[in-house]
Amino acid sequence: MAGLSSEQLDEFRENGILVVKNFLSLGEVDSLRAACSQLVQDMDPAQHRGIFSTTDHQQATDTYFLNSGDKIRYFFEAEAFDVDGNLVLEKSSALNKMGHSLHTLDENFRKVSFSDKVQAVARSLGMKEPAIVQGMYIFKQPGVGGEVTPHQDGTFLFNDPLSLYGFWFPVDDATLENGCLWYVPGSHSTPINRRFIRTNQEDKLLGFRGTDPVYPDDAWVAAPVNRGDLVLIHGQVFHKSEKNISEKPRHAYTFHVIEMQGSDYSKENWLQAPEGQKLPRLFME
Ligand code: FE2
Repeated sequence: MAGLSSEQLDEFRENGILVVKNFLSLGEVDSLRAACSQLVQDMDPAQHRGIFSTTDHQQATDTYFLNSGDKIRYFFEAEAFDVDGNLVLEKSSALNKMGHSLHTLDENFRKVSFSDKVQAVARSLGMKEPAIVQGMYIFKQPGVGGEVTPHQDGTFLFNDPLSLYGFWFPVDDATLENGCLWYVPGSHSTPINRRFIRTNQEDKLLGFRGTDPVYPDDAWVAAPVNRGDLVLIHGQVFHKSEKNISEKPRHAYTFHVIEMQGSDYSKENWLQAPEGQKLPRLFME
């Protein structure tokens, strides 16, 4: 397997984001969409009432979220429920995301995530013993699909020294209208100043510590991509996506790889391996 060329690595090191065209076959993309449809079809909304929003930090008090690292759980848009908590949208159009262990628990997601070509990219990046974490499917539904505010992924998954890469696969073409990724080129030289951490306080299990710099509007560059493409995201690059104002969904599958050799995985990270287990490794032993 080829992995990244030296030109691609140079571009990634300069910008903090790299688009690899046609990384997945359309057959692989379709397998992800089909696996998603099946999971949603089999899901009973009454069992899964987590609401995900990056603007009001609803998840901060939500053990449903905290315990989702090794499960498949379902997170709804804030607008999916009325004031009395009744689901007011079709379940298929009410979801924000599902995760965070699609990569281990679903055969189709597992195949793509642990594929030789993903491993080759991780090796190109110099990774020695990457764990693969936070496999999730993002729905970004038309009308309700909310914004994801500017952040570095290292805020949510931290290791020291930081060695973290996001793999982001559009399942639909991601456009300016339906909420493609935006990023600040070169911002991956910025240290992680804000952390999303376990507080171990009974009334508030998770919270943010620290603040981020704010980048002006003209610092942001859009990364529209087609299904089949890979967007590789450096753990320190600032990125975001806007609300989906189109009439089409913008599905995407994403996971992260994080170096476990020679780098300390923070005990404060929300996502921890279950007692007595290791986070799943990308490279087969
Ligand atoms: Fe992110």
